[in-house]
Amino acid sequence: MGSGMAQVLAQAGHDVHCTDVAEDVIAKARTRVTTGRYGFERAVERGKLTRADADAALARLRFSTGFEDAVGSAELVLEAVPEKLDLKIRVFRDLDRVAPEDCILASNSSGFPLAALASATNRPAQVIVWHWASPPAVMKFAEIVVRPETRPDVIETVKQLALDCGKRPVVVQDNPMAWGYVANRIYAAMLMEASRVVAEGTATHAEVNQLMVDCFGWPVGPFAMVEGAQKGFSEGGQ
Ligand SMILES: NC(=O)c1ccc[n+]([C@@H]2O[C@H](COP(=O)([O-])OP(=O)(O)OC[C@H]3O[C@@H](n4cnc5c(N)ncnc54)[C@H](O)[C@@H]3O)[C@@H](O)[C@H]2O)c1
Repeated sequence: MGSGMAQVLAQAGHDVHCTDVAEDVIAKARTRVTTGRYGFERAVERGKLTRADADAALARLRFSTGFEDAVGSAELVLEAVPEKLDLKIRVFRDLDRVAPEDCILASNSSGFPLAALASATNRPAQVIVWHWASPPAVMKFAEIVVRPETRPDVIETVKQLALDCGKRPVVVQDNPMAWGYVANRIYAAMLMEASRVVAEGTATHAEVNQLMVDCFGWPVGPFAMVEGAQKGFSEGGQ
């Protein structure tokens, strides 16, 4: 997700420093952004991006394992480490220590309460969730999660950034008692019922998928959606 989000932000005109703890991930991220399935080269081939715009966007991207170098002068940090709460809290503590005072700290968490991330810092009013969908270059989804304490200018900045990236931002309230914000909570409820239908022998996975596609015009059924999120929606993923 990190490289995809970095690519979109660079294409929208922002200088982006993409960082990771693993050297090999950094190398793969660069390849993915340039020649990957949703990368700049394919966008140029498909006529979605001019060569000049692709080159300019690539020039705005830096990749390195240097955490302090990446964060030290940032106006906004978008965190996309694995979905483990203890790890995210540790990363937010480090970000708070290193990032400039005015910097906004955003998370692409799939569902951890914003309250838990914000309270790991000394700048809770500048911490926000900006939840993207995969692949970032394609999906318009931008679920922005806020609390009553979140500074209005922080919300406006992130919302505007999402719009600049061609997304359709929706600002929702944090619920510290629930995992999944809005999209993933409703998705999980649907998946639970679909699994119950299969477990009781009413229909097979394939039949549930087919019925939901044909009845509601979904691109894929609920179980195909899980598979797609794990492996990519067609051969090779991103
Ligand atoms: N994959 C999706 O479809 C999807 C969609 C929406 C949101 N998300 C969320 O985005 C986040 C990232 O998901 P992903 O699928 O890209 O995970 P991923 O495991 O592919 O990538 C996470 C990266 O974080 C790096 N990392 C670990 N600890 C780090 C640290 N301390 N500092 C810097 N980098 C560190 C890892 O090396 C890894 O490359 C998760 O919170 C996930 O729930 C994922």
